[in-house]
Amino acid sequence: MDEVEALRATLLSAIEGASDLAALEEVRVHALGRKGQLTERMKSLGALDIEARKAMGVRLNAVKDDITTALAARKEQLGAAALNQRLAAERIDVTLPVRPEQEGRIHPITQVIDELVAIFADMGFTVAEGPDIEDDFHNFTALNIPPEHPARQMHDTFYLPPGPNGERKLLRTHTSPVQIRTMEAGPPPYRVIVPGRTYRVDYDMTHTPMFHQIEGLVIDTTSHMGHLKGCLTDLVRAFFELEDLPTRFRPSFFPFTEPSAEMDIGCSRKAGELKLGQGGDWLEILGCGMVHPKVLELSGVDPTRYQGFAFGLGVERCAMLKYGIPDLRTFFEADLRWLRHYGFSALDVPSLATGLSR
Ligand code: PHE
Repeated sequence: MDEVEALRATLLSAIEGASDLAALEEVRVHALGRKGQLTERMKSLGALDIEARKAMGVRLNAVKDDITTALAARKEQLGAAALNQRLAAERIDVTLPVRPEQEGRIHPITQVIDELVAIFADMGFTVAEGPDIEDDFHNFTALNIPPEHPARQMHDTFYLPPGPNGERKLLRTHTSPVQIRTMEAGPPPYRVIVPGRTYRVDYDMTHTPMFHQIEGLVIDTTSHMGHLKGCLTDLVRAFFELEDLPTRFRPSFFPFTEPSAEMDIGCSRKAGELKLGQGGDWLEILGCGMVHPKVLELSGVDPTRYQGFAFGLGVERCAMLKYGIPDLRTFFEADLRWLRHYGFSALDVPSLATGLSR
């Protein structure tokens, strides 16, 4: 075999032996690149005499054609093999079970608000909202708490820096300002509840600077103290899922209701353990009363025509009592282990159709 035939054979077997596209490219450069073996042979043609050059030129061109054809064929082979390999490696088995993912939990505050809203919705209430940053008028004055009223000191208010006009906004100390905003927004009747955040300068086992309340407001021409008592008794019995839960209303004072009362629910405290229901002991659960005529008047509602009641209850307190959560501060420490323990599955959406219990 002469030199040209030997070269063709070596190159063809190198092409056949290339195991992937990168190796094949190396062979191509080695043969046909600027310094490739075949290229060098072609360059050396100039040194031959004319007859020999013609003959050798024809042979070398034939080798070049063969090599080019072989390269293209091998490239196609290797490309198809690479594609098949990828298809096999990246195949998705849709019959595999899903990977277990950590399921998020509903915070007890959200759960209890949802439960209470569901109960009130069944009684015909709608949900209203108001701003966390309030003005003095809605948080105090319109609720019959004038400047210098001692109740203002009791509220331990967070104040914001004064604005350009000297007005000091504040973080609402209760959800009661939304009573005023509801009445300002349109004429009676009203039957609303207001779940929301409230703020007071306070921090210990039973107080956090931010906490939640649900306000209620019912105004029409006929609602009286009997409706207040019936509505709130139904509420706590549905929420705590105790049909015969005793309730009692104790006279109290709020500037914005007259008369005012605090509602207690029955419980027993044996060996330091609190149990809701019968038992002869009492536990305070919410504040309420008939809306003060002055409050109606300040909100543009005619107190000679309209009357009704309002109440405010603490969401954290309800959650602690119903679900046995001992320390209020843990609600807001964002400890995921706590949330996994006391939280609720997102699939347990409270509804009156399925019952409220888990
Ligand atoms: N706003 C009162 C509080 O925060 C609760 C309340 C609301 C009392 C409505 C009476 C009527 O303590």
